[in-house]
Amino acid sequence: MTGRRVVLVAAVAANGVIGRGGGIPWRIREDMQHFKETTRGHTLLIGRRTYESIGRPLPDRTTVVVTRDPDWSADGVLVADSVERAIELARDLPGDVMVGGGTGVYEAAMPYATHQVLTEVHRSPVGDTYYPAHPSREPREWRETRREDREGFSWVWWERVGRLPGQQPPGHWSPGHWSPG
Ligand SMILES: NC(=O)c1ccc[n+]([C@@H]2O[C@H](COP(=O)([O-])OP(=O)(O)OC[C@H]3O[C@@H](n4cnc5c(N)ncnc54)[C@H](OP(=O)(O)O)[C@@H]3O)[C@@H](O)[C@H]2O)c1
Repeated sequence: MTGRRVVLVAAVAANGVIGRGGGIPWRIREDMQHFKETTRGHTLLIGRRTYESIGRPLPDRTTVVVTRDPDWSADGVLVADSVERAIELARDLPGDVMVGGGTGVYEAAMPYATHQVLTEVHRSPVGDTYYPAHPSREPREWRETRREDREGFSWVWWERVGRLPGQQPPGHWSPGHWSPG
């Protein structure tokens, strides 16, 4: 799968929490606006529970909902039965592929992700849903390119510096093709 940018967009607390009881355990209006602006004009890929927590397709973007339920549908959204298929579908749709969670969707999309736009929420609430892996834990893979500190949270932009899994460097050779001297 090559082509468009695949961007993970998430608001993550200091303890990794992203959700509780089907919702988000904080309310930051400025960040909701930031999410809308970041994803507007693009294709938003979300899990079925996250879609149901929003309850409707957000305007001015294409929404792809991931579910294993072949009977699930909702007005105004496209449906895919795996994250891989959702990414394939989204690559032919407008804008970048914006991955909006939750946990399993971020996890399955991570190998394809070229960027992450994270809101670091400076608190540690009780929660039941977590971000799978913060890019700061993989400094060889991810580079912070921009940060905006606000009251109680920071917006941080990350770019992949490592190769996407499965991508070979130009002129790649395998050890079997090489012999010393
Ligand atoms: N802070 C944030 O930025 C943020 C972002 C997103 C969500 N959230 C919060 O996180 C919670 C929801 O996230 P969640 O992780 O519980 O659920 P979710 O990922 O939104 O939805 C889970 C459902 O999506 C489908 N799904 C997930 N991975 C799939 C895969 N690989 N292939 C096929 N289908 C797949 C399945 O649907 P079926 O069961 O229908 O098969 C699964 O039950 C809520 O509390 C929400 O508010 C927070």
